[in-house]
Parts: sequence; C-alpha cells; structure tokens
Amino acid sequence: MSQDKGKQAAALAALDHVRTGDVVGVGTGSTANHFIDGLAKLKGRIDGAVASSEATAERLRGHGIEVRELNDVGKLRLYVDGADEATRHRHLIKGGGGALTREKIVAEASETFVCIADRSKMVDRLGAFPLPVEVIPMARSLVARALVRMGGEPAWRTGFTTDNGNVILDVHNLDILDPVEMEREINQLPGVVTVGLFARRGADLLILGGDDGVETI
Ligand code: A5P
Repeated sequence: MSQDKGKQAAALAALDHVRTGDVVGVGTGSTANHFIDGLAKLKGRIDGAVASSEATAERLRGHGIEVRELNDVGKLRLYVDGADEATRHRHLIKGGGGALTREKIVAEASETFVCIADRSKMVDRLGAFPLPVEVIPMARSLVARALVRMGGEPAWRTGFTTDNGNVILDVHNLDILDPVEMEREINQLPGVVTVGLFARRGADLLILGGDDGVETI
C-alpha cells in the first residue's frame, strides 16, 4: 500500500467519529485533505468546521462546508488532524506544513483529538523528523541560539511565512527523551510562538493506515 493510500484509509476511518450536529475541528496537510474530501459527503449532517489553516479553510469552502470562527463556537467535540511523527504514547511532532500554532489551538479547544496518519509516521522515539518551531521574526536568531544550546541544529525554513506572519525553525538532531518536558522548555523561550511537539496535549486516538488495514491506538 502506498503512503497516500494509508493516509486515505486512516482519514476515511476517522469519519466514523463525526456525529450529527458537530462543528468539526479540521487539521492541515495531505492526510487532513483526504478527511475533508470525505467530510464533504457528510456536510448536510454537520454544523460546519473550524479550520487550522487558511489552506484548510479554502478546501472546506470549496466543498461547500461552512467555515466557523473558533471564537464563535467555543469548545469543539472533535478535532481530526495528521502528524509528521507519532509514538504509541500518542505524542506527536506536527508542523511539517507550518500550521502548528493554529493546530495546537484547535486541538486544545477540542474534547477529542483523533490523529490520522499512514503507518510510516509511527516511531519509537520522536525527533528523526526535524522539529518545527514557529518564531516571531525578530527573535529568529535569539531562539536559534537557544535551540543550539539545547543540542539541536535549527534550520530557517526560508521563503515560508506562517498564516500568523511568523517564521519556522526546523530543528534537526534533537534528542527528545522527554517530549512533555521539551515542549514546556521550548515554549518558554521568548520569541517562540509554538513548538510542534504535541505531548502535553497529545492525540486521544491514533488511527494508522497501512497494508493490513487500519489500526487504532
Ligand atoms: C501541518 O502543519 C502538519 O502538522 C501536518 O499535520 C503534518 O505535516 C502531516 O502532514 P501530511 O498529512 O501531509 O503528512
């Protein structure tokens, strides 16, 4: 099974978690796009969606799904999103697509976070995928130096600006032994908007698509 087939299988399985009347929190990326395409078939049953990026909002609207403001809807019952890496503890690295801050906001606002991914995203320890950190532009060098002191090798994602007008540092070779502690430590650096570690509030459910079908953790 190709990675894309695995993503699609996981995304379609997540549709079973959508209930009539939900305002659904929707993530960003190619796996989330499969979920959006499936959600389109249920659009008559839901009360719209909250998007974690401009790209997702555009795709939702393209399918005729109403995009709602998080400030107007309050708490969400369900958030569905992909990941760049995931562990059996349901800790994640996210932000390969640069939408990590809004993703973390929508995840925090949601009762249940269902993470969908193809099986290749499963790892024993997080960190082979460079850890994305969204940073206020004037703090780029300051934060990069702090990340070097933590043992990482930050690379500026050049030519990329987040939906919030900030920059991304992709941190290579970090030894992420304690994801909850590292999330806290990086988030405390002045100038950091969000680190793409989702450990303090990880996924509640992980749906992995692969050759032998879909596995739920
Ligand atoms: C977007 O910023 C990311 O957090 C995505 O959820 C992540 O990169 C997964 O992307 P794919 O579904 O495209 O693999």
